[in-house]
Amino acid sequence: QMTFPLVLSILLVTTTVRAFQYTDLAQYIDSHEEEYVEALRDWVAIESDSANVLKRPDLHRMMEATAQKLRQMGGAVELVDIGEQELPDGQTLALPKVVSAQFGNDTRKHTVCVYGHVDVQPAKKEDGWATDPYNLTDINGNLYGRGASDNKAPVLAWIHAVEAYQALNMELPVNVKFVIEGMEETGSNGLDVMIVAQRDTFFSDVDYIIISDCGWLSRRPALTYGTRGNCYFTAEVQGPKQDLHSGVYGGVVIEPMTDLIGILDSLISPSGTILVPGIREAVAPLSDEEWKMYQDIQFDVDSYKNKIGVDQLMYNNKVDVLAHLWRYPTVSIHGIEGVTAKFSIRQVPNMDPQVVKNQVTDYLHSVFAKRKSPNKLKVTMVIGAKPWLADTEHPLYEAGKAAVKRVFDTDPDLIREGGTIPIAKTFQDVTGKDIIMMPIGGFDDGLHSQNEKMSRYNYIEGTKLFVTFLDEVSKIKKTSV
Ligand SMILES: *[C@@H]1O[C@H](CO)[C@@H](O)[C@H](O)[C@H]1NC(C)=O
Ligand SMILES: *[C@@H]1O[C@H](CO)[C@@H](O)[C@H](O)[C@H]1NC(C)=O
Ligand SMILES: [Zn+2]
Repeated sequence: QMTFPLVLSILLVTTTVRAFQYTDLAQYIDSHEEEYVEALRDWVAIESDSANVLKRPDLHRMMEATAQKLRQMGGAVELVDIGEQELPDGQTLALPKVVSAQFGNDTRKHTVCVYGHVDVQPAKKEDGWATDPYNLTDINGNLYGRGASDNKAPVLAWIHAVEAYQALNMELPVNVKFVIEGMEETGSNGLDVMIVAQRDTFFSDVDYIIISDCGWLSRRPALTYGTRGNCYFTAEVQGPKQDLHSGVYGGVVIEPMTDLIGILDSLISPSGTILVPGIREAVAPLSDEEWKMYQDIQFDVDSYKNKIGVDQLMYNNKVDVLAHLWRYPTVSIHGIEGVTAKFSIRQVPNMDPQVVKNQVTDYLHSVFAKRKSPNKLKVTMVIGAKPWLADTEHPLYEAGKAAVKRVFDTDPDLIREGGTIPIAKTFQDVTGKDIIMMPIGGFDDGLHSQNEKMSRYNYIEGTKLFVTFLDEVSKIKKTSV
């Protein structure tokens, strides 16, 4: 143990540092495939389920393992304490620390910051998994396990990308920082506070933020340039003081549930039109360029229908389907508990969650008033996350396109994500840095569902994409501040 660092430092002083060499890096990555798979196996074996408080020790262990791996590579690593979370029963529980790390601090170079998470969604074999979700299982080149694609393999791929440069004694083309959290699946509790607190320290020299926490849309590699935001509401109708038996009181009392169903039905038409006034008007119109971009994307409506198991969608052609998944708002009614309904409206540019809150509240109250019910309506917006959109012509995206072209010999699909990654918007608003989303997950990885997997192909080629992207970023002209 004592002699190892000594040997390493002698190697470092006696060998000259080389410049980027794609073929060498690609060869190195190919020849280390089994080690990368083993590293993923070790990580998947840790049940870092952030939603289950009983698994919190595993989650802490996961953060430690992540920090340890980065330390072994010689990074300047910190485990940042982000405090505690309050549980519904009033108890407090320590949040998993955020791992931050840094490789290189040459001020002549750009600095990128890779964001990722190593917590996972819950998974039990009984939920319908074909394999043990925490025992990585290789079936025909697909590595099945909870968190394999979301987000452990992409985080490891980034770490291996830096490691490959080190192993080949190649100079890192840019400084690389990492921010790895353990609460993403439950809403990134505590991370925004950490970002604000470190805005002028850790983040001050960061030029670009990279997020690889999503997937491709098809077998063609993709760059993601937008995510929808989300406004999540509850609507509660308060009526009689106690539950009433329908045989005893039914027929004379105006029932809260009838009121609630009535107002929910006023949110959206059967064909999917949002009926809340003002919402559709706020949406940025679809431009001709956008239409053309969607037209070029590789996406098959029929296989999409098969994948989700429906006979019919609201739209039949590719452009309409993609546009309504990514760049139009939608209302979803999630459920009713007692006489409280939960529903959400996905946000797109140029909607503003605060405006939407007022629009929805005013509208539901006006619909409710027309019913002339003696009951009371209470509408609350519990989450108001903004959408995020990047400029696909930005040098950062041009670097991404060049890297994809180099590794996969094709242009990437430029796609959006229908879901919400609120931390992207936080990074952008707090740090003011440019963000790129560079997914390596497959379109059929089954994030958040049973039988999640990461293919060896995406894992290994994705690692090659990351080493190449670092080189492409280094070619971006450095603008003086
Ligand atoms: C950053 O630079 C300082 C001073 O040159 C050096 O001591 C330190 O090791 C560097 N840190 C990293 C993470 O490279
Ligand atoms: C994982 O699965 C393999 C194959 O079924 C089995 O041999 C191995 O013992 C399992 N490992 C653990 C830790 O359960
Ligand atoms: Zn994720």
